[in-house]
Amino acid sequence: MNGLVRFWPSGRSIKVKPGTTLLEAARRANVPIKTRCGGNAACFMCKVSVRPGSELLPISDNERRKLAGLEDSQMRLACQARASGVVDVDIPLDPLRAAVARQLARQAEEDGPLW
Ligand code: FES
Repeated sequence: MNGLVRFWPSGRSIKVKPGTTLLEAARRANVPIKTRCGGNAACFMCKVSVRPGSELLPISDNERRKLAGLEDSQMRLACQARASGVVDVDIPLDPLRAAVARQLARQAEEDGPLW
């Protein structure tokens, strides 16, 4: 049985073999996920949020250690989390873009309607 990984907010999706990491799936689907360690669970830059109901292989001890303190969240390392079926992945906004978006929203709120 094949898996399917869907990336949000782009809506791009790709069929994958079970065991494929979310990072591999993202690369094949042309969804950018920043990394610095090349997928070795060292940089923590590939954090993604996996929606409830997503079908993943059990988390590895290594990934669990890396995510210490975030166990209750839906946060996973894309380079370590492996699909086993249908997976929905939310890609977090780049921190700089997120800061700009927050500032623009704040400014729009202060300025009020344009007409
Ligand atoms: S790519 Fe570096 S921790 Fe996942």
